[in-house]
Amino acid sequence: MQRRTIQTHPIQGQKPGTSGLRKKTRVFMGPHYLENFVQAIWLGVGGVKGKTLVLGGDGRYFNDRAAQVILRMAAAAGVAKVIVGQNALLSTPAASNLIRQRRADGGLILSASHNPGGPDADFGVKYNTANGGPAPEEITNRIYQQTQRMTSYDILEARDVDLSRLGAARLGDMVVEIVDPVADYASLMARLFDFDAIRALFADGFTMRFDAMHAVTGPYARAILEETLGAPPGSVVNATPSPDFGGGHPDPNPIWAKPLVDLVMGPDAPDFAAASDGDGDRNMILGRGIVVTPSDSLAVLAANAHLAPGYRKGLAGVARSMPTSRAVDRVAAARGLDLYETPTGWKFFGNLLDAGRVTLCGEESAGTGSDHVREKDGLWAVLLWLNILAETRASVAGMMAAHWREFGRNYYARHDYEALETATAEAMMDALHARLPDLPGQSFAGRRVEAADAFAYDDPVDGSRSEGQGLRIHFEGGARVVFRLSGTGTEGATLRVYLEEVVDDPARLDLPVDEVLAGVIAAAEALAGIAARTGREAPDVIT
Ligand code: G6P
Ligand code: ZN
Repeated sequence: MQRRTIQTHPIQGQKPGTSGLRKKTRVFMGPHYLENFVQAIWLGVGGVKGKTLVLGGDGRYFNDRAAQVILRMAAAAGVAKVIVGQNALLSTPAASNLIRQRRADGGLILSASHNPGGPDADFGVKYNTANGGPAPEEITNRIYQQTQRMTSYDILEARDVDLSRLGAARLGDMVVEIVDPVADYASLMARLFDFDAIRALFADGFTMRFDAMHAVTGPYARAILEETLGAPPGSVVNATPSPDFGGGHPDPNPIWAKPLVDLVMGPDAPDFAAASDGDGDRNMILGRGIVVTPSDSLAVLAANAHLAPGYRKGLAGVARSMPTSRAVDRVAAARGLDLYETPTGWKFFGNLLDAGRVTLCGEESAGTGSDHVREKDGLWAVLLWLNILAETRASVAGMMAAHWREFGRNYYARHDYEALETATAEAMMDALHARLPDLPGQSFAGRRVEAADAFAYDDPVDGSRSEGQGLRIHFEGGARVVFRLSGTGTEGATLRVYLEEVVDDPARLDLPVDEVLAGVIAAAEALAGIAARTGREAPDVIT
């Protein structure tokens, strides 16, 4: 086996975004593209000689090929050992757990999360650090700098490693340990949750549907929900990971998981339903007749987590991303918990979790998690919900109604305008940004602005500052609009408009969301002139 040095040149645009580097699959498959980026990771993290890394992905198209390239480059770079999920599969939270359990120095996750997979769809590579979490900006910036001065990379000339066989293999001097992707993760879940109580719930006839969306959580959900907890066979659907996710978007929201929404709204609704995304870190929670928004789910979990053994001693604090609704803030205020507001991106929770300042965190983008790993965790959220339902024996709709009665309701929606021309979207944001100081006191569609700012975050743990994290406009009476450009798109720009209205009146807790938000939506349009500037009459996606 020979180690070879291949000459290359910098490739433009290899800048990691909200969650690693995401590009069209064909871009990643282009000459030197993956190799340059991986070499930049090795250099950006200060070298990987003698280190132990974890490797796995969500099984999308090119996952298997990319894993073999990364293994050969790791061997050439002197990595001591790579722990790989069987067939190069690992859900993102399971990868985070493996890095932590095995005290690895870091890991590479191959995924474009909820984006579709296939030769004409998306691919991604993300580096996670020794705490199991996504690399902080300081490191992703260094990786990016390395991509801009790339001249060569090293790779071993070798045959593919057979990743279907569990156990140890060798690649040059490097050990490749192929592990069952589910086992360690399942035992972590068994430590956090009262599996006996959940088993008893199913034994009493409780029904559920988990839609794995042809993605990586299928094997995890089958093993844990059906085989371990006794959910009726067939409770887990679309459970075999496929390279193109069955041709769909593995995105657990009311658009892409519409069959699940139709099911819970129909006559055959199960007691509980849930879905996860391509790499298993997102979640969607539904019950008979109800879809729970991610922001509400975070609030309910924060209020009830103590019912699960792993959280019995209570929460150190809670955190949410800035655009996430402030429903959890009300729980924090009522329970005397510290509340942190971070920029979008799970990586911003890492320091707070490491420092023990928060136990639970979540985002409007269908992410919820805790200090058990350093990624959001879809199945974990499902199991925490199940544990809470097993303890309370309430219905999902009943839990939500009780929660809103106690804390009030933050009606919430996100409007996305996708694939806008980047210049148009940036011009719109710049124009609004420039007007922020003048907005307080002005009215838009009958709503008076109370405060307006561009969100910047000062990390209380390491003192770093992140600017330009979205524009916040607070209206009198508690409503809020946030404007932000997505950091995860692969085509043009995506404008996200986050809309929130606060209602305490007990008679107004069960109204249609669009009806309650109509006034805030009109104010957002009057403020930003989205239709005039972009030519779009309506959002592409409402979640
Ligand atoms: C990924 C990240 C999340 C983030 C989401 C939306 O899933 O892991 O932390 O909230 O993308 O990001 P975006 O920049 O597209 O709004
Ligand atoms: Zn994901």
